[in-house]
Amino acid sequence: MKLTGIILVAGEGTRLRPLTYTLPKPIIPLMGKPLVVRLIEDLKSVGVNEFHVVIGHLGFLFRQVLGDGASIGVKVNYVEQRERLGIAHAIHRAIEEGANGQLIVYLGDNYFQGGVSNFVKVFMENEYDVFIVLTRHRDPTRFGNAVISDGRVVKLIEKPKEPPPNSYVVTGVYMFSDPDDVERAFKSLKPSARGEYEITELIQWFIDNGRRVSYTVTNGWWKDMGTPQDMLDLMYLMLDETKPRIEGEVKGEVNGRVIIEEGAVIEGVVHGPAYIGRGSLVGRDTVIEHYVDVEANVSINGGSISRSLILDNVRLELGKARVVDSIIGPSTRIRLSNGVNRLIIGEGNIIENI
Ligand code: G1P
Repeated sequence: MKLTGIILVAGEGTRLRPLTYTLPKPIIPLMGKPLVVRLIEDLKSVGVNEFHVVIGHLGFLFRQVLGDGASIGVKVNYVEQRERLGIAHAIHRAIEEGANGQLIVYLGDNYFQGGVSNFVKVFMENEYDVFIVLTRHRDPTRFGNAVISDGRVVKLIEKPKEPPPNSYVVTGVYMFSDPDDVERAFKSLKPSARGEYEITELIQWFIDNGRRVSYTVTNGWWKDMGTPQDMLDLMYLMLDETKPRIEGEVKGEVNGRVIIEEGAVIEGVVHGPAYIGRGSLVGRDTVIEHYVDVEANVSINGGSISRSLILDNVRLELGKARVVDSIIGPSTRIRLSNGVNRLIIGEGNIIENI
């Protein structure tokens, strides 16, 4: 049976502004690679070769990054979702534009420890009509909830005020055996209070109509990247799993688990876990403390940085300043002289302490 990936990336990412004014969440690189590329590679490893990427906000950027998929060795089609009508609607749009076979639907701003390929294998080995991945979360009311009884999913509720008994949080990967059934389910839906066709209601149709809806509960971590802090947390988790690798030039000092990409130059000190991207410079008087991801062609002189993500082409002159818990958008120029600074800034800014 053919497997088709449907990747949903149309959202505006409002809680991650200003970054998402110019960069949709799934395109923001972490450790040298946009999340959307990582997840396509992961699905490819279990035999998904055709993808429908449902775009909306800044959709042209996905076309630029992924093209026709050839650079990743897959086929990528694009589907426009002009109105924000929800996840179920986005899946319907992909089917309308030709997505067929068994469908692996993935929200582009979700990330699972170790990827999702193991879940897809379980789906393929069983004859489920729908397969979902559940988890525990400290704040279940932010998500869809699934009630389990006798090992079966019996009810799905979107963002309940109180988490129901025997329930788990519904993550952002959904698998369907039959696109015709998905279309039948979609036709029965009405927009919810927030004006969207909800994925939880779509799956509820399968339960109500006697289909086999099954699930797994993941033991690994799972991140849904809503806010800047979620983005940083995901980066910390990914850095925690890095294997050290040094391809750039170290003239200064590197301690612990660190990746230094080709063309990067370390004149100062880098404490791991840390990632220093291609062509980036850590200057002589700079200390990268820990949990820092510096993407490509960044130059840092002076100062110290910890727990931060610095995107491409940034120039930092930090004097004696400390930068902590920050996300700095691409092509930004910052000159500081002292103090402790937290910066969440988008693309192309200039910040100077003179
Ligand atoms: C969506 C789904 C929700 C699910 C969540 C996972 O929520 O509606 O059921 O738990 O994704 O990330 P949204 O991000 O649209 O609020």
